[in-house]
Amino acid sequence: MAYYCSFKPSLLFLLFFIATSQARDSITTHLHFFIHENVNRPNATAITVVNSTTSNPGGFGSIGIFDDEIREGSSIDSKLIGRAQGMAPEVSLSEMAWLLLIDFVFTDGEYNGSSLMVVGRATLGGTIERSIIGGTGKFRMARGYTINTFLSGAPEGRLIDECDAYIVH
Ligand SMILES: *[C@@H]1O[C@H](CO)[C@@H](O)[C@H](O)[C@H]1NC(C)=O
Ligand SMILES: *[C@@H]1O[C@H](CO)[C@@H](O)[C@H](O)[C@H]1NC(C)=O
Ligand SMILES: *[C@@H]1O[C@H](CO)[C@@H](O)[C@H](O)[C@H]1NC(C)=O
Repeated sequence: MAYYCSFKPSLLFLLFFIATSQARDSITTHLHFFIHENVNRPNATAITVVNSTTSNPGGFGSIGIFDDEIREGSSIDSKLIGRAQGMAPEVSLSEMAWLLLIDFVFTDGEYNGSSLMVVGRATLGGTIERSIIGGTGKFRMARGYTINTFLSGAPEGRLIDECDAYIVH
């Protein structure tokens, strides 16, 4: 009985401590960067590893793998700050649309060694919102969203994607 009485308050204290420490630590970080994809061989950063087995014009069921560059700016020689590594199965029967699974791995600057896991849709053109579902390092427990827009006028064989990430962590 004595054991039970002393145990109960300490458990309540522990739960209170966990709740308040999470609330106190949460901050919102806004990152702005550019994803550079090169589909030109031999130095392509994105490849198709599975072709569609259907006659669907959108390529339903195909799978791409990418290890794109994350750069500070839209220019090809702007500073490299990480990699956007992931996969893109084509998941729509009615249009060209992919389900992206991306690990943003930062390799320079304040977030060197930290990463963000992003999941969501991709289509050709337009502005796209995706979910940030987790992170590591400085982004542990991350939640948030990204807003991506493809830039027009990229050099032949390259895609340049402007990205704003809003991260609560
Ligand atoms: C591929 O990368 C290598 C090493 O960086 C470079 O020397 C070569 O010019 C590149 N080739 C093309 C076609 O971009
Ligand atoms: C997919 O199809 C393209 C075009 O026919 C071909 O060049 C490529 O080698 C194929 N890739 C795979 C993984 O089968
Ligand atoms: C990033 O972190 C790694 C591992 O700690 C370190 O080896 C590397 O030098 C760092 N890069 C920069 C540009 O600071």
